[in-house]
Amino acid sequence: MEILGIASDHAGFPLKERLRAALTAEGYDVRDFGAFAADVPVDYPDHAHPLAAAVEAGALPRAIALCGTGNGMAITLNRHRGVRAGLCWLPEIATLIRRHNNANVCVIPARFIDEATAAEVVAAFLNTPFDGGRHQRRIDKIAQPEL
Ligand code: RB5
Repeated sequence: MEILGIASDHAGFPLKERLRAALTAEGYDVRDFGAFAADVPVDYPDHAHPLAAAVEAGALPRAIALCGTGNGMAITLNRHRGVRAGLCWLPEIATLIRRHNNANVCVIPARFIDEATAAEVVAAFLNTPFDGGRHQRRIDKIAQPEL
């Protein structure tokens, strides 16, 4: 059973719950890093950092993250070494963050996407392999010392 991480803030919670249920029904072992309610405001870094730490440690090969725009999650997640989180609002973008960026976290803008599109985004992210080749060279160049 493949392990999959998922995390959100309060804005992403309702869609997280629907995606989590669907992924569990598909047979994924979904590890939930919260949030746990839509009506209790939380700070997205409090859920993004633990998820990213698990990816960084190798405990989570792939994960899904959600907040209102997706940007708070993406900005926070990408501060962790080895995390490549991409913001996806269309399945075509989810396909390309796998093919070109070898992304390991798919970030969804919960307030700007409908459930059916979000499900297509997740399916594209989970079912698309990395192209390698020239894209690996580019990924290797991401990990430069900070300027
Ligand atoms: C919460 O109101 C909202 O700011 C958050 O979900 C996210 O969009 C931040 O980037």
